[in-house]
Amino acid sequence: MKQTFKTALAIVLAMNCLGSWAQWGAPADPNPTVKLKDAYKDYFMIGVALNQRNVSNDDQVNLVKAEFNSITAENDMKPGELHPKEGVWNWEKADKIANFCRQNGIKLRGHCLCWHSQFADWMFTDKKGKPVKKEVFYERLREHIHAVVNRYKDVVYCWDVVNEAISDGGGGFGGFGRRGQAPSPYRDSRHYQLCGDEFIAKAFEFAREADPNALLFYNDYNECDPGKRDRIFNMVKKMKDAGVPIDGIGMQGHYNVYGPSEEDIDAAISKYKTIVKHIHVTELDIRMNTEMGGQLRFSRGENKPVAGYMNTLLTDQYSRIFKIFRKHKDVIDCVTFWNLGDRDSWLGVNNHPLPFDENYKPKQAYYAIKNFDAKLDNAVPKEDFVSNPCNQPGQEWPKVNSEGYARFRIEAPDAKSVIVSLGLGGRGGTVLRKDKDGVWVGTTEGPMDPGFHYYHLTIDGGVFNDPGTHNYFGSCRWESGIEIPAHDQDFYAERTDIPHGNMQKILFYSKSLGKMQEATVYLPNGYGKLVKGKNGKMEQQRYSVLYLQHGWGENETSWPVQGKAGLIMDNLIADGKIKPFIIVMAYGLTNDFKFGTIGKFTAEEFEKVLIDELIPYVDANFLTKADKWNRAMAGLSMGGMTTKLITLRRPEVFGYWGLLSGGQYAPEEIKDPKCVKYIFEGCGSKENPAGINKSVADLKAAGFNAEGLISEGTAHEFLTWRRCLYLMAQKLFK
Ligand code: XIL
Repeated sequence: MKQTFKTALAIVLAMNCLGSWAQWGAPADPNPTVKLKDAYKDYFMIGVALNQRNVSNDDQVNLVKAEFNSITAENDMKPGELHPKEGVWNWEKADKIANFCRQNGIKLRGHCLCWHSQFADWMFTDKKGKPVKKEVFYERLREHIHAVVNRYKDVVYCWDVVNEAISDGGGGFGGFGRRGQAPSPYRDSRHYQLCGDEFIAKAFEFAREADPNALLFYNDYNECDPGKRDRIFNMVKKMKDAGVPIDGIGMQGHYNVYGPSEEDIDAAISKYKTIVKHIHVTELDIRMNTEMGGQLRFSRGENKPVAGYMNTLLTDQYSRIFKIFRKHKDVIDCVTFWNLGDRDSWLGVNNHPLPFDENYKPKQAYYAIKNFDAKLDNAVPKEDFVSNPCNQPGQEWPKVNSEGYARFRIEAPDAKSVIVSLGLGGRGGTVLRKDKDGVWVGTTEGPMDPGFHYYHLTIDGGVFNDPGTHNYFGSCRWESGIEIPAHDQDFYAERTDIPHGNMQKILFYSKSLGKMQEATVYLPNGYGKLVKGKNGKMEQQRYSVLYLQHGWGENETSWPVQGKAGLIMDNLIADGKIKPFIIVMAYGLTNDFKFGTIGKFTAEEFEKVLIDELIPYVDANFLTKADKWNRAMAGLSMGGMTTKLITLRRPEVFGYWGLLSGGQYAPEEIKDPKCVKYIFEGCGSKENPAGINKSVADLKAAGFNAEGLISEGTAHEFLTWRRCLYLMAQKLFK
């Protein structure tokens, strides 16, 4: 029992702390048997670049076989590795990779036949070290290409024939321009110096001769940069127009968490697909710094743990680019990650660029890539956004639309990243991007659950509130808040046609704590009015009292403000659904319990405050009916745990008990069945409805007057608890 309680509490705390159970705390992988290649079977192959270790270690082999259906040799098929000297061939490593593919029926991408780097540089000089004529070079290149392509014909389905022949800067050779020379779109490689761009055509012709069936690719990096994109496009177009057999363009995809933008990726694919039928993303990885591209000099990252927000940026960038890739599934036939896990990455383990970490465990990015929601790929939010009801006066942003999407706009001109902690599950939030005016904007990827959500901004790793909204106490601090329209929102609407009660802040002395404590007291409209008493004399009306507890991280302001407890009561009273009663909402001493100390939570301290100090204070200072059958206790989340502990220990104090996403009573825990008149238990449909349903059924079977509520379409959040209060209030004190 004790253990169950601890576990339940841990879950409740975790849920509360994370904000929304379904939207943030959802299980890491709802589809564990579906692997990357399965998730993308209707889209494109999922490939991986492998080294020798990856095909020798059993765990890594299993991972490769489970997740991927295309393989690229990271280095072992490059000319410099295979063919370091004239007549010298090192086939062993390449054969090992090829045999791995043959044995496991996995397709092999050939990489690469002609590249300025890791090349067989001997091809450029004769035995005396003198430069050879281009005809000699072509003869050597042809022999090389024929030998390699022929050897792996049975297993290689495509080749990166020419790699990285286009310049980065475009203004001149190598991007820097040389005085007196015409600007060139081409990389100033030894190949180019000897042959001009003819070597590109030759390499493709040799490859096609050697294998008429393999798809032949031109492969390059920074391929989404508009300038380089156009240079690549123009070159491929020129070659194809001249009859050079180029089947496809390989987009290397060495990106970073900040870019390229979706627009640039989309524009590149859209442009390339006007001239080729095949696009492969050949070397995908996403650095956690501002560098990108295929240069072999770069920073390998700092040796420190990844900050949470960086992981969110990584996950988000992967999600965005895969969404674009899926959109172009007509032309993309393979997306290859450059390395199996962070430990293998050519960028160094500290760049954390891959979906699998340094221990080959899946990261958040992996789940986001794999468990995409195809319905959202083409979803376009309705453009009926209006200012969020939680906004401060005069603040236009954030906005929400009628479908439940939220849109944010944040001015932070010099920031590198802005993340809103509100979004679809497992992604860590919504990452904003700078618009053309330099303002950070973004819309949640899909509709949010209806009701109230806490959120905050993470700007370059620092946590801030959104200056647009009011603040709400949750997560042990004041947070921003947003209200998503709910179909039943009228029950907590601020109506103009009815009288309202009021919220009073009280300060009472707690002897046990040795300090003043705060609570909020809801007094129904008309409180203090005279009514005819039992003996016929006019006297002030007295009321029953509900002691209503908040959850972990919250305080005495949470029910009155985000819980809308007062409005719910005003509406119920005005509609004649309940007789007026008082609600007392006190701070439940929940927030000093951090994760490590959860096991120590007994609610004993608060029990003293509540029963020995607060209730006497309330009964002395307000017009209460001061007996058990006019006193109820209920609480949400950790406040539910508090309620359960205290009501079971002190059944003589409260006659009505309520747990809102805060656990359940078991019949055998309640010693005297007559000690409680009504038990309420509720939660969101995205929490643990089965647990609530079973507990309520058990209680009923044992003869208790119990009732449950499953709040449809909500999680561990305030709309669940507003609905619970609305129903429970109608059953109290009867
Ligand atoms: C990289 C390998 O991953 C490294 O191990 C090696 O030291 C250098 O080359 N563009 C390409 C790949 O086409 O072949 C490069 O691979 C990365 C950039």
